[in-house]
This record gives sequence, C-alpha cells and structure tokens, in this order.
Amino acid sequence: VLYLPLPWPYPPSCSSCFSRPPMAPRLLPLSASRGATSRRTSSSAPPPPRTRYEGAVAEDGRSPSIWDTFTHAGKMPDKSTGDIASEGYHKYKDDVKLMADTNLEAYRFSISWSRLVPNGRGAVNPKGLEYYNNLINELVKHGIQIHVMLYHLDFPQVLEDEYGGWLSPRIVEDFTAFADVCFREFGDRVSYWTTIDEPNVGPIGSYDSGIFAPGRCSDPFGITKCTAGNSTVEPYIAVHNMILAHASATRLYREQYQAVQKGVVGINVYSFWTYPLTNSTVDLEATKRYQDFMFGWTLGPLVFGDYPQVMKTNVGSRLPSFTKSQSEFVKGAIDFIGINHYYSVYVNDRPLKEGVRDYAADMSVYQRGSRTDPATSEYAPTAYPDDPEGLQFVLQYLTEAYGGLPIYVQENGKASANDILDDTDRVEYLKSYIGSTLDALRNGANVKGYFVWNFLDIFEFLAGYKLGFGMYRVDFDDEARPREARLSARWYSRFLKNNGISAQSEVDDTGHHAQQ
Ligand SMILES: *[C@@H]1O[C@H](CO)[C@@H](O)[C@H](O)[C@H]1NC(C)=O
Ligand SMILES: *[C@@H]1O[C@H](CO)[C@@H](O)[C@H](O)[C@H]1NC(C)=O
Repeated sequence: VLYLPLPWPYPPSCSSCFSRPPMAPRLLPLSASRGATSRRTSSSAPPPPRTRYEGAVAEDGRSPSIWDTFTHAGKMPDKSTGDIASEGYHKYKDDVKLMADTNLEAYRFSISWSRLVPNGRGAVNPKGLEYYNNLINELVKHGIQIHVMLYHLDFPQVLEDEYGGWLSPRIVEDFTAFADVCFREFGDRVSYWTTIDEPNVGPIGSYDSGIFAPGRCSDPFGITKCTAGNSTVEPYIAVHNMILAHASATRLYREQYQAVQKGVVGINVYSFWTYPLTNSTVDLEATKRYQDFMFGWTLGPLVFGDYPQVMKTNVGSRLPSFTKSQSEFVKGAIDFIGINHYYSVYVNDRPLKEGVRDYAADMSVYQRGSRTDPATSEYAPTAYPDDPEGLQFVLQYLTEAYGGLPIYVQENGKASANDILDDTDRVEYLKSYIGSTLDALRNGANVKGYFVWNFLDIFEFLAGYKLGFGMYRVDFDDEARPREARLSARWYSRFLKNNGISAQSEVDDTGHHAQQ
C-alpha cells in the first residue's frame, strides 16, 4: 500500500497530520515589495475546486462527477460529501467581495466539467455557462486576475461509465473539446489556464491505492479491496493519456486562441522537496530517481519529449511509450509549470524489488517526513515538519532542470481544525514560505506567482470538513455557511496591501478586516 506523494493526510489516525490546502489566489508583488528583482510575482490563494467549493451538485443541470459517486458511496473517512460544500455556487458574489476586501490580486478556481458540459461532450449547459460567466465577471469587476484549472479530479461520471475515463485514449478528444468550450467562452477574460491538477499524484490515489475516485486498485496495493483495477499499470496509462490530453488542449489554444487572447497554458504538478538521507552515492541516486518519478513523469515528456530513462528502465513495458509523432506533439506543449507544495521528504535507496511492482516500488526508495522517522517504503511519515527552504529548492530545481519555464506556486498552506480562528501557525507558515519563494526568485528561479491554499474552507478530498486550509473559516454546521476571518486572513490582507512589506513583521495587529 502506498500513499505516495499524497499531500493528504495519512495515516488516518493522525488528523493533525493533514496537510492539504486549496486556494486563495492573489498576486503578490513580492519583487516590488522586497526589492528582489524587477520581475513580477503574484501571490494568491488557490481556488476551490469545483464542487468542493461550489456544492449545488445536482442543481441547474449539473451531472455527477466520479467524486459524487465516490462520496455518496460513503468512501470518505468522515462519510462526508461535497453536495453543499461551501455553497460557492450561491455565494460567489459575496466571496469575490471578500477577496477584494482581502486585497487578493488573483484568484484560481477550477471549472466543473460536468456542470458546464453535463453529457461530458456536446451541448453546453446554459446555467453552468451563466454561473462561470457571472463569477468571472465579478472577478473582473474587482480587478482580480483569473487563473483557471480545467481538471481537478472531478471527472464526469458519464464518460467514466462510457469508456473508463483517463484509462482510455478517447479522453484526449473529449478533454480537448471541453477545453475548447472554456477557451471560447471565457478566454476573453481568462489568460491563465492550467489543464490538470497533480497528474503525478491523483492517478496514484485513483488507480493504485484506490483512495480517490474512481477507487480502482489490485492486490496487494489497494488500501481496501477494490472490485476492479490494476495498480501496476493503470496509473501509468492514465498519466500517459493526461499528457496527451494536456498537449492537445495546449496546441488547440496556440493554434486558435493565443494570438488573440494572449494567454498561456500550463500543467500542475505536486511537489515535495527531496533531501538525500545520507550523502552515499546510492542515496544521491535515489533522490535523483525520486525527482525523475515525481516531476519527470509529467514534465519530461512535455519539456523533452519523453519519460525519464530511469522510469523506462524500472517500469519497463508497463510504461506506455510515445510514438515519434506523439513525442513531437507533446514536446514543448507547455507555457508554464504550476506546483502545489506543502513539505519536504528524506529519501534513501531501496533495492528494486523483484516481482509485481507499482509506482512506489518502481521508484525504489524509502522515504520519510523527517530524518528521525523510521524508514518506510510507504508514505507514512509520523510528522510533516514545516520546511520553508524546501519550496525555494523546488523552485530553483525546476527552473534549472526543466528549461527555465515560468513557475506558479498554485497551492501552499497549512491545515487547521475547522473551529480554530487564531491560526498563528498558519500565519507563520505562510510568512516563511512566501519568504522562501522570494529567496528562490533572488537566486534566479523563474517564479511568477504564489497562491495560498486556501482562501476559505472547502470540502477537502480525504479530510472532508474536519480540517480546513482556509484563511476564512466556513461554519459547515450552519446551513447558511457563514464565513469568518481567521487571523491569517487579516495578516494576508495587510501583507498584500503593503505590497509584501509586512511579510517579516510580527503578527500583532488583529485588524478589523472581518468588519469591513
Ligand atoms: C495488470 O496488467 C499487467 C500487464 O498487462 C498484467 O501482467 C497483470 O497480470 C495485471 N494484473 C492484474 C491484477 O490484473
Ligand atoms: C551532504 O553534503 C552536503 C554538501 O557537502 C552537506 O551540506 C550535507 O549536510 C551532507 N548531508 C549529510 C546527511 O551528511
């Protein structure tokens, strides 16, 4: 069982371990504020993925996604669903006002495919179109830059039923058509498009351990017994199709929209920083191998036209291959890299196992959350210590290793129990990680923006409603889902207002933001 690069909470008994935020975007002129360079950096909180924020899962013609099916089957640890979530479908206007009050410069959100195109392909749902147009117009009205995520784990159930979703090459055409609708309808106001969230993590949860929708796996890799799946091959197939789908959407944008709309298209990857546990040659190689599996899996094809050699060697025939023309098609089909980042891991060598292997076994490393954790081949650290420098290292590494593409930190933040308002921990976390982003910028990393995860509490995959990453608390026990500013919201608001100058200042002013 392997929970690999899951930012999510684990083990289930360690609720305080949950480390996974959403988004509260806002452009942070870090460069101006701290005199780093003349490059502009944006800082924002990441946006709430679809139903996780929107709720209203069955309203106005929306069809179910695989997460609705999954949560309705009681697969969440707390049996929760995203049916109502943060009520964003009805509260977006107030929320955008709150964003403006918080001085957000940018906001990142994802579009629910099954709300916009309920049959998965074909007719656009007028009500879905209206919702996103309203939200976008509201953001434009308040001068908030818009970053859209096209796919955030919520695949339309109808296409899952028809052909198995990401496991089929048919997804490439349908995803491209969905992207086409978004570019056509919203591209006059949206310039930042990210195609897929965490392709290097989601498919492990979905097809290896089975903890994510659609919950497929095979023995001995699933965390529960799955009725269908093949943990050793399906994650590789799904990611292969994601890369092709991403490239296809990107090429469509370049050919039909970019000249006029002047936007950019990128992909998101989940990131750890990886420290070698020792300086032995095998541990240094293990660390490099981990980076190739984590980043190179997706970015290798998109930047260089193929998977990293070490993946081809260790995975063998279970790794799909690109034909020559596919390789040319995917190579260079990326304008920027989005990363989600929460913490670092320590890596050492684990000899490659003989016999049946999944992704984690193919990677052949032991990993842990701190130097003193016990060695494990699974991702089950006893703690996730904050490590702000890790974000700096990731940004510098990606700049050097993947051709200097612009990078956006699309998620970064810290969880707390839902009822906590005095989130000093979160403020300290954000301060140190934003500072680390600036250090990376000063060292030449091509980082262009930073989004906090999250602006407000949403329905967190795996964690449900118990833990939130929001700078604004949402009271999920109250039907009206009221929002309340945490200390971090007031700090961030002041930080942004002062152009980042308060980044290093003490958290002493509780402010009156909630009353604004
Ligand atoms: C998974 O697929 C591989 C490659 O096709 C095959 O060898 C293996 O038997 C399959 N495993 C299961 C559990 O179906
Ligand atoms: C490995 O070497 C680097 C560079 O010399 C050093 O900074 C680091 O502390 C060493 N790590 C360990 C675990 O000894």
